[in-house]
Amino acid sequence: EMDTFIGDLMSEMTIEEKIGQLNLITPGGGIPTGSVVSTDVEEKIKTGRVGGIFGIYGPEKLRQAQKMAVEESRLGIPMIFGADVIHGYKTTFPIPLGLSATWDMELIEKSAQVAAKEATADGIFWNFSPMVDIARDPRWGRVAEGAGEDPYLGSRVAEAMVRGYQQDDLTRENTMMATVKHMALYGASEAGRDYNTVDMSRMRMFNEYLPPYKAGVEAGAGCVMSSFNDVDGVPASGNKWLLTDLLREKWGFDGFVVSDYTSINEMIAHGLGDLQAVSALALKAGLDMDMVGEGFLTTLEKSLEEGKVTEADIDLACRRILEAKYKLGLFDDPYLYFDDARPDRDILTDENRQFARKAAAESFVLLKNARLPGQENQTLPLEKSGTVALVGPLADSQNNMLGTWAPTGEHSLAVKVIDGFKNVVGEEVEILYAKGANIVDEPEYAEKINVFGPKVEIDERSPEEMIREALTVSARADVIVAVVGEASEMSGESGNRTNLDVPENQKKLIRALAETGKPLVLVTMSGRPLTLEEENELADAILQVWHPGVEAGNAIAGVLFGETIPSGKLTATFPRNVGQVPIYYAHRFTGRPQESDEFQKFKTNYLDVENSPLFPFGYGLSYTQFEYGNVTLSNSEIALDDELEISVDVTNTGDFDGEEIVQLYVRDVVATVTRPVKELKGFKKVFFAKGETKTVTFTLKAEDLGFYHPDMSFYAEPGDFIAFVGGNSNTENSVEFVLTE
Ligand code: IFM
Repeated sequence: EMDTFIGDLMSEMTIEEKIGQLNLITPGGGIPTGSVVSTDVEEKIKTGRVGGIFGIYGPEKLRQAQKMAVEESRLGIPMIFGADVIHGYKTTFPIPLGLSATWDMELIEKSAQVAAKEATADGIFWNFSPMVDIARDPRWGRVAEGAGEDPYLGSRVAEAMVRGYQQDDLTRENTMMATVKHMALYGASEAGRDYNTVDMSRMRMFNEYLPPYKAGVEAGAGCVMSSFNDVDGVPASGNKWLLTDLLREKWGFDGFVVSDYTSINEMIAHGLGDLQAVSALALKAGLDMDMVGEGFLTTLEKSLEEGKVTEADIDLACRRILEAKYKLGLFDDPYLYFDDARPDRDILTDENRQFARKAAAESFVLLKNARLPGQENQTLPLEKSGTVALVGPLADSQNNMLGTWAPTGEHSLAVKVIDGFKNVVGEEVEILYAKGANIVDEPEYAEKINVFGPKVEIDERSPEEMIREALTVSARADVIVAVVGEASEMSGESGNRTNLDVPENQKKLIRALAETGKPLVLVTMSGRPLTLEEENELADAILQVWHPGVEAGNAIAGVLFGETIPSGKLTATFPRNVGQVPIYYAHRFTGRPQESDEFQKFKTNYLDVENSPLFPFGYGLSYTQFEYGNVTLSNSEIALDDELEISVDVTNTGDFDGEEIVQLYVRDVVATVTRPVKELKGFKKVFFAKGETKTVTFTLKAEDLGFYHPDMSFYAEPGDFIAFVGGNSNTENSVEFVLTE
């Protein structure tokens, strides 16, 4: 039916109208992340030269635009309306790196579903999310927007988000089309510098970086966005191997591919030719829709005349875009998503905010929680009595709660940490506040991060004066809570850093606070793994909260005062210093492994820092404690077409009910190629009442042991394996098994 409908429609279309469908514009209402925004928008719509628009919001405006296309263009083809709805629409959830730290796929799926309900209420039905780029270099600012370093976890998150946005039914008025981005390897930009070159072996690509894109495609994503970087020397947007041979022919993707902003035009700067040449290259490679750059619009006709592209090339791209519109139900009702009653009804409901609070609390990772000298109790949770000094530049900040890429969120709606404290314990606890330091040390630095999005507020006082004030309030308190870290825009697109420390003036504040000898709790806010070695020495407790979203303050106070027990675990390794980067748990065996933590000459190690990270992948504490029993197997052998059950008893031995994320890792002991020391193969988030023991069981299939070989064939190699089960990637709790022929 769809084929006939589209075939009939296309038989009516002129070549200009077909090319028009390939054109995606933004009238500048969103965040221009490049140098160009579109002009003559109305004229283009009426003459059939626009396939879609992104960056405008609200049923009224979008209805007007749609009306123009439907009623005033010759064939009345509806437009598709997109936006970047990255971690919630108006009800902003934690940044994606934070969401991934929940390891809760139901929660992540629901966050996407809520985002889709709110966005579609505002007329948006195509989303430039999820970003599924594996990132092992926290210098790269966009590590904030993904699910961290691991391909297995990243794939599960990709599936959950696609399911959440699309709900297996794109024609419904409250679901939106997902875009898996950025295809491919965007998270591996050299030196952590955004938009930089990527070059890696096919083995690494297929085993470590490509799985989440594939998982998102297999979950049914309607769209894929090409990336800015090159892959094997050819920019992704002009890479036929990537966008056609792999994506469509091998993986069976049947949706459409959109460029990332002006990534087609940027191939000129990559050195691949002029606008006409790079536009033809992109079309031929399998890129269907040109975002903002208008290279397709302005050069494809000429390329057709000169034989550089064929009408069949243009038809193919046009057909894919019309198919997307068909799947979205637009040919039945182009105004389906424009119901004026919906924004009030569906956006920012109490229920959504409650859910945002839960999501935020679950995303927090407790990095340290020391027992205070001479006391039974650990530092956290805090008692709901006495006096707390709440200090630090992020304690009374509203602009940095939502985090990067929240263009549809509203900072004025975010709950500040200080207000969260008042909401949660305002009656019982005396709260004293001092800013203590600016977020960044230099005004010039603030200017760089104040280009788009929320502004960093700079206090004119000297660092010394601000610290003095913080010490004065701390002197009157029983405990100090310092909210420190990064501003929202210190991560995200073009937010790269070569220094992963908490900025220096904040470090000075932390040192001064530690000197007081009072219990010191750090709440660290950041869009990336930070280097917290000194802070880990100085503080009694550290709670990593990412950028928590609209309910930030309530969620933070709720966890600090024990209303919610933290359960998040890191999805990206926290290095000791930036020189260890890239650092990730699934590194491969080398020929000269270090045998102890001590420096060993002629072994793989450093003179100035140990190999281990400060906090490994999968790490995170609770207020309660968990003890793991021995790992047991249903069978010590597994055949190539079989499966195996791996079990462990876990006991909550602490003083609170709590959730634990139980993780399964596997080591392939002998193979024909070097293999990772451990790879995540399963995880379960399990609730344990105080004192409770549960048996947690994983099913491992022999095919889960497979991997891509140098010739790109995928299979498991029979032989010895080790299964590890524990609470983080460092676990040595293990059992051996054999994969038989
Ligand atoms: O979706 C984004 C992408 O992630 C980065 N460049 C701009 C696009 C559209 O806003």
